[in-house]
Amino acid sequence: MNLSHPSLFQTNAFINGAFKASESGNTFEVANPFNKDILAQVANSTKADTEEAIQAASNAFQVWKKFTASKRSRILKNWYHLQLKHADDLAQILTLEQGKPLAEAKGEIKYGASFVEWFAEEARRIYGDTIPGHQADKRIVTIKQPVGVVAAITPWNFPSAMITRKVAPALAAGCTVVIKPSELTPLSALALAQLSIEAGFPPGVINILPTINAVEVGQTMTNSKLVRKLSFTGSTKVGKLLMRQCADTVKKISMELGGNAPFIVFDDADMDEAVSGAIAAKYRNAGQTCICANRIFVQSSVYDEFTEKFAKAVKEQKVGNGLEEGTIVGPMIEEKAVQSVEAVLEDAQTKGADIITGGKRVGNNDSLIYEPTVVKNVNTDMLVFKNEIFGPVAPIFKFDTEEEVVKMANDTNYGLASYFYGRDYARIWRVAEALEFGMVGINTGMISTTVAPFGGVKESGFGREGSKYGIDDYVEIKYMCWGGVS
Ligand code: SIN
Repeated sequence: MNLSHPSLFQTNAFINGAFKASESGNTFEVANPFNKDILAQVANSTKADTEEAIQAASNAFQVWKKFTASKRSRILKNWYHLQLKHADDLAQILTLEQGKPLAEAKGEIKYGASFVEWFAEEARRIYGDTIPGHQADKRIVTIKQPVGVVAAITPWNFPSAMITRKVAPALAAGCTVVIKPSELTPLSALALAQLSIEAGFPPGVINILPTINAVEVGQTMTNSKLVRKLSFTGSTKVGKLLMRQCADTVKKISMELGGNAPFIVFDDADMDEAVSGAIAAKYRNAGQTCICANRIFVQSSVYDEFTEKFAKAVKEQKVGNGLEEGTIVGPMIEEKAVQSVEAVLEDAQTKGADIITGGKRVGNNDSLIYEPTVVKNVNTDMLVFKNEIFGPVAPIFKFDTEEEVVKMANDTNYGLASYFYGRDYARIWRVAEALEFGMVGINTGMISTTVAPFGGVKESGFGREGSKYGIDDYVEIKYMCWGGVS
């Protein structure tokens, strides 16, 4: 690692404003998915470390919540500027531990920092209401107060931005946080912790617990009465488990879970635009985002044209080392991720699908780089239709009518992102309203932005991140009823 700010490389947990080894003294390895080189030995946090971090966050909450909104905002702004100043270093750390191409990693750092800037501004706009009283001598006022200590459990696919997207609104509202980053990508989180010291956050406001003891640390968080809110991004399976665990202490929760995004191409779409939108929506982060296009549906009259152009564009994508100039698709995160892609492809082929391009690892049998793959002759009985693929595989389904495709698109327990291309404005409204998803991209394959509410419906979760709504998940509304005003 060649960092211009070497202190960004941290390997210990961050508790109460200081980097600390685990109380057990144990560590775990973090490896580069491209070549499996060991990048670091990182502190393996335990139950005792988690309790210490929660207590630190609880103590800090008493201080942080009393800061004026503008003081919290200023410290958040400092953190934002530091993230931009050190974007090259942060991107390098991210690519090394996660695999995504450097340009994409830098994009993530800027995207992640934009949440910090946005919520630094929102901190000053957490308004209550005055409500006309229900009796002549009554006056009613509401205020919004921070929920308290927030536990955030974040994924490996966006090791930086999924932290800032949760933590920035929490801190803006006056909450303090305890974060458990993915064990696959803790280094980006710890680099953010270093910058939080430089930004001026008081000790205990931000705490980070790298660990491979996910169950032990997660349960300590969910069992704690001091933790008043859990925000989780990850699989629907783990999300359901965490929701159950939060029930006993009745925590406020937000869940950003799996997806099974449809990407629909109607016959009046601009085909070139649809192809580039599908490439962006499918192969970003090697297909490993919750909002990646999972099922591409193309109207039969334009099916051949789209498929040919799409397959040609897919073949042109350079795959390999994320640190190498020009790489578009990097390695997948770990062996089991590649195996899961292999399993859905095998299922599809057994049931009659044809691979047009891709379909194997690049290099050795244990390589984590998987060729961007396109599959046709697919149907709704296959796992490529039912499962969240989470890899660089694009199945292309054929449909005839609007009614048929909307039905197929909604035929999933998930409801996160959806996309479609077409020009008939009446159909655009009809389809956008009919899709049972939290987000709809219309004539675009890129929908992520700080200013819009990110989140799902059905088993993709609840709560919204980013936008003017993002703060709502971190505040409680208190209502005051004033009597005897005569
Ligand atoms: C995710 O995969 O959960 C996040 C994707 C994004 O913010 O674009």
